[in-house]
Amino acid sequence: MMPLDQLIRKIDDIPPLPDIVVKLLHVSRDPNVSTREMVELIKHDPALTIKVLRLCNSSYYGLPRKINSIQEALVYIGTDTLVNFVLAGCLSSFYQTAQNGYGLEEGELWRHSVACAIASQRISLRNNEDTHGQAFTAGLIHDIGKIILNSYVGLEINHIMELVEQHQIAFGEAEKQVLGFSHTEAGAKLARHWNLPEALIEAIEFHQQPQRAKLAPKLVAQVHLGNILCLSFGIGVGTDGLAYTFHPSAMEETGMEIADLYQLSLDIHDDYKKAEDLIGLVA
Ligand SMILES: [Fe+2]
Repeated sequence: MMPLDQLIRKIDDIPPLPDIVVKLLHVSRDPNVSTREMVELIKHDPALTIKVLRLCNSSYYGLPRKINSIQEALVYIGTDTLVNFVLAGCLSSFYQTAQNGYGLEEGELWRHSVACAIASQRISLRNNEDTHGQAFTAGLIHDIGKIILNSYVGLEINHIMELVEQHQIAFGEAEKQVLGFSHTEAGAKLARHWNLPEALIEAIEFHQQPQRAKLAPKLVAQVHLGNILCLSFGIGVGTDGLAYTFHPSAMEETGMEIADLYQLSLDIHDDYKKAEDLIGLVA
């Protein structure tokens, strides 16, 4: 197996994330950046401007009048929502492909990622956090490493599953023993290569080991719980989905009980349908 750095450079079926999206992800969390600066950033990208206006004028928002400018759009839907739907629109095409190495059929990783984004955001909203938009983003990209390792895992899946079953170790640990790194490490490396914010990189890297998070433990805990919750409903289970359990540190970090988590599941289905329709508008 080649070193991870080399592997990331070799990947051509993963498109670079457009600069504008990376910039938006950074500035949307910067309290020193004004709405005016955000508007400036977006309005220089005509294709993006059109998508954002289409999103705001969709029947989902049902606004009483037409939105004609990015400035008005930001007021109505908010920066986080805008950034998340733009990011989701960029990722949807390569997330839709089948990830056979992980036993995921066409569209399954996409459904899992959108559902995890919604679940992570719902967990954050329950605690009234103003970072719920970032929780959505982190949930959306937490499994990005699966796209990188898909074909390699496919070749070694029997060996990996043998380790999981016989030695009772986590799937990620087994990936690491067989391939040299796990999909969470590969995902974090890609996110770094894309220059994404550190909190998001940590959410990708530690969503299966939330106790290891240092910079953004709450965010990591939310994605950890959101991910397992979606797997427990059968969304994107694949080969590894049953090899995970809720970590007590994440329950503590978010103040959630198991019963709270299952209650959230009722809302996720409706949210999922709405989110998918909206992402379609910016894809
Ligand atoms: Fe996941």
